[in-house]
Amino acid sequence: MPQSHVFLLPIAALLTAVFLLAPDRSDAARPLRHERTTTTELHTLLDIKNEWGSPLQLASWNTTNHCSWTGITCVTRGGGLVTGISFKRLNLGGSIPPSMCNLKYLTHLDISYNNLTERFPRILLYACSRLRFLDLSHNAFYGALPDDISRLSPFMKYLNLTDNNFSGVVPPAIAELSALQELLLDSNGFTGEIPDSFSNLKELRVLDMWGNHFNGSIPVWIWQHQKLEKLYLYDNEFTGELPLNITMLKLEELDLSNNKLNGNIPEVLGTLKTLSFISLGSNEFTGPIPKSIGLLPNLQGLRIYNNKLLGSIPRSIGVLPNLQLIQLYKQYALG
Ligand SMILES: *[C@@H]1O[C@H](CO)[C@@H](O)[C@H](O)[C@H]1NC(C)=O
Ligand SMILES: *[C@@H]1O[C@H](CO)[C@@H](O)[C@H](O)[C@H]1NC(C)=O
Ligand SMILES: *[C@@H]1O[C@H](CO)[C@@H](O)[C@H](O)[C@H]1NC(C)=O
Ligand SMILES: *[C@@H]1O[C@H](CO)[C@@H](O)[C@H](O)[C@H]1NC(C)=O
Ligand SMILES: *[C@@H]1O[C@H](CO)[C@@H](O)[C@H](O)[C@H]1NC(C)=O
Ligand SMILES: *[C@@H]1O[C@H](CO)[C@@H](O)[C@H](O)[C@H]1NC(C)=O
Repeated sequence: MPQSHVFLLPIAALLTAVFLLAPDRSDAARPLRHERTTTTELHTLLDIKNEWGSPLQLASWNTTNHCSWTGITCVTRGGGLVTGISFKRLNLGGSIPPSMCNLKYLTHLDISYNNLTERFPRILLYACSRLRFLDLSHNAFYGALPDDISRLSPFMKYLNLTDNNFSGVVPPAIAELSALQELLLDSNGFTGEIPDSFSNLKELRVLDMWGNHFNGSIPVWIWQHQKLEKLYLYDNEFTGELPLNITMLKLEELDLSNNKLNGNIPEVLGTLKTLSFISLGSNEFTGPIPKSIGLLPNLQGLRIYNNKLLGSIPRSIGVLPNLQLIQLYKQYALG
């Protein structure tokens, strides 16, 4: 039995490729190919289950149709190829099973809200060559991210490492994953500055780095990014001023609160018409509250409490049609 299983693997891979590239609709050929692909994927899943110590959470993995097992998504048009694994909140511990990336068609891997306790499993994950979505959030992963993290699949669009115990500087190589649209590194122990290389991440829509120990100034390129919608850098140790020229055409949410930023709040913020939420609270900003903020038609929230701002609240802010939350209290201006 083990021998024929091993023998089947390369053939199944080959047939699978043919099946995908040039679907043969001949009734005679199809069931055989389908069966072999299915067998390979099913056996890989059973390997994964075994490597994870056959946890009770995967007890339903005992039927012949693996596509209906807990957490498994297959391609819609048959073939039994596994494209997605979602193990969210299954209370799994240990580490990611070595066989995971033997699922050659895996694009989506979600292991969020478990108790995985290991370093970033680099070699294992680099073998998932079609991965687009990786969610390791809310686990106990620790240590530095590897310097060669760019060896993750070039198709990576979503990387979520939220709420783990990662530390050290963020490797510049992340920016070689140039298709990234959402990068979530919040609630870890990262240190150092935002790497310059991040300016290559032209497709970014979400950059979420709050709740770490990042320092240095917020890099200039961010203020000219043309696709960024959400920028969360709060609860860090960023210093420096905001620039006068900001041309972020898509920016909706900006949260820089609880850092050590200083200087004036630039008037140009009021030209970013897509903004719906601005939080600059608990910094060291000085000067007046820009009148232009009262010109933001979509603004729903404005928090600038706990700074050193001077002067009165521009009247225009009071009449903003969508404003639901405004927190301006505690301005420690001297004189
Ligand atoms: C599969 O596992 C479920 C849950 O443990 C059990 O109820 C069922 O009898 C099992 N079926 C087979 C075919 O072993
Ligand atoms: C998580 O895993 C660690 C290390 O394996 C263990 O000590 C801890 O008890 C686990 N926590 C939970 C909530 O299961
Ligand atoms: C992690 O981030 C991804 C991409 O932004 C998102 O789709 C996913 O819902 C997040 N995970 C959790 C547990 O919130
Ligand atoms: C996180 O890592 C630090 C050391 O780097 C360790 O002291 C701490 O206990 C870890 N916390 C958790 C929740 O694993
Ligand atoms: C940022 O923090 C690191 C320690 O994590 C320190 O070595 C470095 O000098 C700091 N940089 C700035 C600009 O404060
Ligand atoms: C924006 O202003 C900064 C200094 O505030 C400058 O370094 C940068 O080159 C300017 N960028 C553009 C596109 O004008």
